[in-house]
Amino acid sequence: MDAVGEIKSRLSIEDVISEYVQLKRSGRNFKGLSPFTNEKSPSFMVSPEKQIWHDFSSGKGGDVFSFVQEVEGIDFKGALELLARKAGLNLEEYQPKQSGRLDKSSNERLYAAVEQAVKFYQVQLTKHTPSLKYLREKRAFEKQTLLDFRFGYSPEDGKALLTYLTKKGFSTEELRKAGLVSSRGRDVYDMFRGRIMIPLLDPQGRPVGFTARQLRDDKNSPKYINTPSTPLYDKGRQVFGLSQAKEAIRKSGFVVVVEGNLDVVASHQAGIKQVVASAGTALTNHHLKSLQRFTGDVRLSFDDDRAGQEAAERAIPLAQSIGVELSIITLPSGKDPDELIKQYPKAWEESVKNSQYMVDWLIERIAESLDLQSAQGKRQFINHILEIVRQLKEPVEQEHYVRKLAERTNTSFETIQAKLHEKSGIQRRLKRVKAATEEPALREQRVREQHLLAMSMRSEDIGKLLAKLPLDVFSPEAQETASYLQAHPGISPNGSEYAKMLTLLFEEQYQLTSEQELAYQAQRLLSRLVTDYAKRKKTALADELAEADDQKQTTILQAVKHLDDLVVQFSKVES
Ligand code: UTP
Ligand code: MN
Repeated sequence: MDAVGEIKSRLSIEDVISEYVQLKRSGRNFKGLSPFTNEKSPSFMVSPEKQIWHDFSSGKGGDVFSFVQEVEGIDFKGALELLARKAGLNLEEYQPKQSGRLDKSSNERLYAAVEQAVKFYQVQLTKHTPSLKYLREKRAFEKQTLLDFRFGYSPEDGKALLTYLTKKGFSTEELRKAGLVSSRGRDVYDMFRGRIMIPLLDPQGRPVGFTARQLRDDKNSPKYINTPSTPLYDKGRQVFGLSQAKEAIRKSGFVVVVEGNLDVVASHQAGIKQVVASAGTALTNHHLKSLQRFTGDVRLSFDDDRAGQEAAERAIPLAQSIGVELSIITLPSGKDPDELIKQYPKAWEESVKNSQYMVDWLIERIAESLDLQSAQGKRQFINHILEIVRQLKEPVEQEHYVRKLAERTNTSFETIQAKLHEKSGIQRRLKRVKAATEEPALREQRVREQHLLAMSMRSEDIGKLLAKLPLDVFSPEAQETASYLQAHPGISPNGSEYAKMLTLLFEEQYQLTSEQELAYQAQRLLSRLVTDYAKRKKTALADELAEADDQKQTTILQAVKHLDDLVVQFSKVES
């Protein structure tokens, strides 16, 4: 058996998934809240018999490998390694001896180089008294903390790591690619010299780079330098401390994002472990998405309120579109978490617990800087807050803040409500354009076609309707199963993961639906799928038309007519 098969036979899918999602038995299957959306009623299913999962809210699904990939944010290779470890399997015994793994193996070399560098720097730290003194005394880190985060020290001479890793068989090119050395002209030097080294880990805990701090404050060089972008490390995605914080995030149900990497370390040492940092960059979509895999409750701690306010306002639209709830942790002024923890560890714990919902926090900050008694101050205040309120998706929330604004500024609810909608028309239209071109559209298509195909497993009539559709109405992943169902209406296909997932969907949702209801729902889905399909096709044809000669034009116009006919044919069915 191959490694994948062996792992599947050793691990049960429900055990693996229940480390991430709380599952409850539901008939032959298990059910829970989707880890990929912030749904309120559970639509995430696991079938032990079929060894598959399916998330009805996002349309995603597959086997245990695809689940681990999605939830951990790693590639297939990473999932294989992680599950092999869980299953107690030695992957080396399964290595295919053939070619075809060039790319992966060159990344493997980079991982190995960074891992060796981590070890090298760790050893150097044990020999470097000033760094140890700084970390143990000035920063008050315990020995175990330094070991847990794999702290190290990079020697000053500028060639130490290069020499060491060259002896270990790494080429200069590999070391350059891994961001460990840099070249000046012909000369090659260690990237990091005379700094305290803190490894950056990927979500599985593999080192991918470093953040490196000066030992003594020196205004002539930056306090921290980080590994440049490499095939392993992307700073817009890197969440410092995530692999160490994962478990605590799951247990507590929230995550704290601080500004400094060493704040993360200090907080861990103080026993508050659900803490990460975005490592010196503004919070991105990618950061939030990585965190959302574990929780929708994200609490931000800023070192100073002014910079924090800007960062918070920038984060609102991201959080709203992803579905993450942001709140803000306020610290006694002038301190960062690290300093606070050293003086009053309990105060940090309290602050983290008492985070304030982002919108309320922003309202307080903005109010502080304005005179709410004057007409001018009121106007500025209302305009600023409404910009934020417009971005909230939930009408109940919008109304709540409109009321609050009205009270606070002694203005009528109606006036503010009217102002709220002044600009929002334009905004909403812009959003709709975006939504039409971006992922949500794809996701909707995926969910629609899954339901339609699941229904046609049950009903021969629906299957026959399906047979009239061109295959490329369906997304690539669905086409194989769709074509089977076109040829065998009313029969369950078996074999592929996709087919299994449809069976699960069918059993969960349609087994008990009446024939009539099914027909009704199927027709609506069909009409929608065909309309979207025609739109997609026509956009593509319009581009072609611009470049076409006369004869080609005729063909294109015929194709357009054909599409229109198809739409008419399927929308007639609906009425
Ligand atoms: P801070 O200056 O607040 O650092 O920058 P800190 O974590 O409190 O540092 P200590 O306590 O003096 O050691 C916050 C984060 O910004 C990034 C680092 O990731 C740092 O943790 N940073 C800061 C840089 O990347 N380069 C710099 O020169 C400074
Ligand atoms: Mn600090």
